[in-house]
Amino acid sequence: MFHPLQLRHNTIDTPLFMAPVAGVCNIPFRVIAREQGCPNIFTEMVSSEALSRHIPKTVEFLRVGAEERLRPFVQLFGANPATMAQSARICTEEGFTLIDINMGCPVKKVVRSGSGVELMQHPQLAGEIVSQMVAAAGACADITVKTRLGLIHGDELLPELALQVQQAGASMLTVHARTRSDGFGGQARWHEVAPIKSLLHIPLIINGDITDYPSACLAMEQSRADGAMIAREGYTRPWIFREILSQVRGQATCEPTPRQIREILLRHLDLLCQYMPERAHILMRKHGSWYSKGTPGSSEFRQALNSCTDSAQVRSLISTFAAS
Ligand SMILES: Cc1cc2nc3c(=O)[nH]c(=O)nc-3n(C[C@H](O)[C@H](O)[C@H](O)COP(=O)(O)O)c2cc1C
Repeated sequence: MFHPLQLRHNTIDTPLFMAPVAGVCNIPFRVIAREQGCPNIFTEMVSSEALSRHIPKTVEFLRVGAEERLRPFVQLFGANPATMAQSARICTEEGFTLIDINMGCPVKKVVRSGSGVELMQHPQLAGEIVSQMVAAAGACADITVKTRLGLIHGDELLPELALQVQQAGASMLTVHARTRSDGFGGQARWHEVAPIKSLLHIPLIINGDITDYPSACLAMEQSRADGAMIAREGYTRPWIFREILSQVRGQATCEPTPRQIREILLRHLDLLCQYMPERAHILMRKHGSWYSKGTPGSSEFRQALNSCTDSAQVRSLISTFAAS
C-alpha cells in the first residue's frame, strides 16, 4: 500500500505523514509521534514574513530536539516570493530537506496577507513562489505544496494550481479533500481529488478524515493518491501510525492499554518539562484529555488535569492514572 516515493532530493520510504498542525507539532509532540511509529512529520506552520526578519519566537519553530534522530519537515506560509525564497534559504541552512508551502489554511491570520488557501485564487503567484523557493533551496531541499479541493464546491481551481506548482518545480502535492467553505465540516471528498492524478507526474498525497487503516486504504484508492496524511486523529491518538503500519504488514494490532497510555502521558510530560517548562502543565491538559479519551475514569482524569497548577501536580495525577 505504501510504496517508497522518490522526490527530487528525498526518498520517502513510507508515505504516511503526520500533517503540519499549528499549536501541536512542537518538539515534544513530534518525539511522541515518532516513538509511536510515525514515519514522517512536519513542524507547525512558520510565517515567512517573521522568519525572514529573524523574529526570535518564529525562529524557535525551527528548533529540533536532540531526540529527533530524523529531522522533521518544515512548513512555511507567505505570499511574497522573495520572502518565501529567503525563508527557504534559512530553512536549508538549518538543515531542513523538505519545505512545504501552506496553500490550504483558511484562518484569518494567514489569508489576510494573501497566503494559505488564498493562493488558490492566484495560481501564477503560487507558481512564482514555488519557483523562487526551488531556486533558493537548490539541491538542499524539496519544495512541496499542501492545498485544498478549492474555495467552494465545483470551482475547478485545484487543477490549475496543481499544474502551476508542478511546472514551477514542486516535488509533491498534498490535497485536503475539502474546500475552504467546507472548513473542517462534512466528510472529506477523496474521490474529487482523483481527476488531478492524471495531470501530475509528482506524488499526490491525500488528507482529510483518515482515522485508521481501512479509511487510509479507501482514501488512497478513491483519490488515486500515492500516500496519506493524517492530522486530527494523529494528534489525538498518535499510536494510529503504528496501528496502520502494522496492518499494512498484515499484523494484528490492539489499542494501547491504559497503562501504556500512562507511560505515553508521562513521556509527553517529561518532554514538555524539558522543552517548554513554563507551559508544560497547561499544554498537558489537551494532550492528556486526548490520549486518555475512552479509558475508564477519563472524564474525572480530565477534570483533575484541568485543575493542576504545575507540572509536579500533573505528574502525580498521571501516576495514579490506570493504577488500579
Ligand atoms: C488545530 C489545527 C491546526 C492546523 N494547522 C495546520 C497548519 O499549520 N498547516 C496546515 O497545512 N494545515 C493545518 N491544519 C489542517 C490539517 O493539517 C489537515 O489538513 C486537516 O485537519 C484535515 O486532516 P484531518 O481530517 O486528518 O484532521 C490544521 C488543522 C487543525 C485542526
